[in-house]
Amino acid sequence: MAWTKQSLKKLVAERLSDYQFILVAQAEPYAHFYAKDSIKVQRGAGGVITAMEPIVKLIHGLWIAYGRGNADKAVVNESDRIRMPPVRSSYTLRRIWIAKRNVLGWYYGFSNQTLWPLSHSVFERPAFSKQDWDAYVEVNRQFADAALAESGEKKSIIWLQDYQLALASRMIRERNPDLIIGQFWHIPWPVADIFKVCPWAKDILEGMLGNQLIGFQRIAYCKNFLSSVAKTLEAKVDMDAMTVTYNNRITYVRAYPISIDYQAIASSSAKNKKFGKSYITRNLTGKYDFLSLGVERLDYTKGVLERIMAIDRFLEKYPEYIEKFVHLNILVPSRTLIKRYEELDRDVETLIENVNFKYATAHWQPIHVIKEALRPQLVNNFYKSANIAQVTSLADGMNLVAKEYVAAGPDDGVLILSDQTGAADELTDAIMVNPYDIEQLADAIKRALDMPKDERKARMQKMREVVAKQNVYRWAGKFLTDIVDLKTVPETLTQSDTKP
Ligand code: G6P
Repeated sequence: MAWTKQSLKKLVAERLSDYQFILVAQAEPYAHFYAKDSIKVQRGAGGVITAMEPIVKLIHGLWIAYGRGNADKAVVNESDRIRMPPVRSSYTLRRIWIAKRNVLGWYYGFSNQTLWPLSHSVFERPAFSKQDWDAYVEVNRQFADAALAESGEKKSIIWLQDYQLALASRMIRERNPDLIIGQFWHIPWPVADIFKVCPWAKDILEGMLGNQLIGFQRIAYCKNFLSSVAKTLEAKVDMDAMTVTYNNRITYVRAYPISIDYQAIASSSAKNKKFGKSYITRNLTGKYDFLSLGVERLDYTKGVLERIMAIDRFLEKYPEYIEKFVHLNILVPSRTLIKRYEELDRDVETLIENVNFKYATAHWQPIHVIKEALRPQLVNNFYKSANIAQVTSLADGMNLVAKEYVAAGPDDGVLILSDQTGAADELTDAIMVNPYDIEQLADAIKRALDMPKDERKARMQKMREVVAKQNVYRWAGKFLTDIVDLKTVPETLTQSDTKP
């Protein structure tokens, strides 16, 4: 069956209408900030928001998140709620307030300096701080308390998102064993020997086994997770059935490759006629024949430095593209209080300045940067104008930018895609690259530019068919169907099933 918005609506009406739907994520879809004489609303960046918002809108669910905007408190009601999105609201955002010392320990510390580098395995050493861990536990408890309070006595499905909330499912389950709880882990899970260096490996795994269902982007991450459990806990792990039995409870582990609202993005891109090459040349880049585009948070997992080195190599090897080729990178500032991110920002800037200095002519330079979070509509417009999109992450759970380019880009656009992304499993008609191999990246740009139009169109068409079918409604539909179908399983366990 091809999943659509309508089929997910039908599933919700037929099978989930008895349940209250509570999404729990660190990231809030919109934050409010004080501007001069007013309050401005800003959309958050990252894969969780991109993927989850269409689903929560459709289900009219409740989204619990950490209020990070300095005006967030000023706009909520007495129950810390606000209707969202700002225009044509359809769901409720419930904000929770986290003490600054805990934001430092939980978000900037354990989530983004321990679990983030640990999970991505990009040779970035994770920090292991007891103080950060304590904050992580405390904040997970806050999220669990909020989810329990919101579900009350009602039948609820609690859907936890990502690595910032690894402990919440167990904390919820201990106080209300009847709830349906599932979690989707949006980033990779490392191999077991890497994961086990974490001093709190056991607590994290036990924390996650409060879920009935844990979803990962790729089968390989499911296997890594199961091996981590087998090496760390006295649990029964069935690698074939992909289940863990622990403390008389069963947890299913499954791969659900996340996606985008293909139709919405494709039609929004088709509608905008005004934006285009002339806008870009006039406002941003000056003249060019070929536009290459990168879009990401400024994060060391994204391979931005390697991409710039490759552009340098490309122009060195193929100087005929001087004054013809331009690369535009949208870089969204992220986690800026962390030293490593601040260093990366400086390194990227210096490298770009060097490459631009090397090749610039009177009215042209090869690399341009927009350093801000743009509205999704505007990003779609950039996709539409790009001859090439480069998604060259060193490691990634999925990387929805690749799928967004397929939906919004031109009919003959070429995608250069890292073989380390989850999207590489599905978008096999991209030009696949090893993101660490500068020579290969440089040649991939040349290959994209040399590719005959017919081939470019045929490849793009095939990728569109894949993303149109494997869209975000299918992803959510499959996860929600499974979690409801599996909910009765723990009661059917026999004593012999549960022996380690
Ligand atoms: C990744 C993570 C998300 C996170 C997003 C943005 O996609 O998987 O959980 O929300 O990055 O990161 P930030 O730290 O800015 O919320």
